[in-house]
Amino acid sequence: MASRKHTDVMDYTDGMEMLDSGVMDSVLGRAAAFDQHSYSDKDVSAALEGVCDIEGFAALLSPAAGCHLEEMAERARNETRRHFGNSVCLFTPLYVSNYCSNECVYCGFNCRNRIHRATLGLKEVTKELDAIAATGLREVLILTGESRTRSDVEYIGECVRLASERFSTVGIEVYPMNSDEYAHIHECGADYVTVFQETYDPERYGQLHLAGPKRVFSYRFDAQERALRGGMRGVAFGTLLGLREDFRSDAFACGLHAMEIQRRYPHAEISLSLPRLRPAGGVNNQVAVTESQLLQVSLAYRIFLPFAGQTISTRERPGFRDGIVGLSATKISAGVSVGIGEHSGEARGDGQFVISDPRDLAEITEALRRNGLQPVMTDYMRT
Ligand code: 5AD
Repeated sequence: MASRKHTDVMDYTDGMEMLDSGVMDSVLGRAAAFDQHSYSDKDVSAALEGVCDIEGFAALLSPAAGCHLEEMAERARNETRRHFGNSVCLFTPLYVSNYCSNECVYCGFNCRNRIHRATLGLKEVTKELDAIAATGLREVLILTGESRTRSDVEYIGECVRLASERFSTVGIEVYPMNSDEYAHIHECGADYVTVFQETYDPERYGQLHLAGPKRVFSYRFDAQERALRGGMRGVAFGTLLGLREDFRSDAFACGLHAMEIQRRYPHAEISLSLPRLRPAGGVNNQVAVTESQLLQVSLAYRIFLPFAGQTISTRERPGFRDGIVGLSATKISAGVSVGIGEHSGEARGDGQFVISDPRDLAEITEALRRNGLQPVMTDYMRT
């Protein structure tokens, strides 16, 4: 194993490209100064009145904003309307491999877990992609566990190539790569890259990511920048809410991370995800973040970064997802399977976590229309 419990989470291991762009220091410095209890009702009201700056964002994430959710929702709804109209993008994830070389204590794919593992062959990937395309979806997100040997860069590139022949938008959510590798994956047809930092507290990060390349916090942190330098059109950010008691600090850092990248890469399409911890692979992950706190984070993101997309996954239940899409979320998954090979046949490998919304595409589009929203399959034309 490349790294173990005692290694420093800031120490790069072999082959990891270093950027030193200053984004990480800036974000972690500001996040360390965030004191959730230092904000009052007045600060929250001020944040809701004019342009929401960094301090305003902090106030909206603070406990003081917990009783201003109605006002936040109104402002968020207006921002969403202004920037996205009533359109909501649809996609589905496709898990092609669940092998992993990391030991993340909360994840079903933890390499120490004895689960059914599989990597789909390219023929099987094609079958899965065809099955998904037949439902009418035009955007797919290719996912793997984080094993550089079981799902190498060439393999991921081939999966992306097959996907780009069938879909108008292709994302990847795989292990962080170097910028030349991202360039290769981009050439194969990928549009965007999602990497969740999980927690922005390096100490907590070290307690949760015991071994494997993922233990290197700093290399993961710079993934979006490397992806953009590799030519990707968009990047997505996320903190796994529930991993750390002070989820507000994590959400604050995540918003700042997205903002700093947008500043430095103005052409980049920025988007945020709001994953909340779920039970997984026999681990009964206790979630300390309530739905209304999750809503607060989403609204704060929308008000602070009104132009940024927001994705709501099947980690949340149908009623919650249906409510949040009109307010702050702009992208929703449908027909989700987190197992390997399940779209076109029997599952060949176990899933990453337990989902809460099993609805298929027809059910999700119906719910969106009932809400006065417009389901969008394609929002991009590749030239
Ligand atoms: N619950 C919810 N999300 C999880 N992930 C990993 N384990 C869980 C879990 N138990 C998330 C991580 C990873 C993403 C693909 O899924 O944030 O980056």
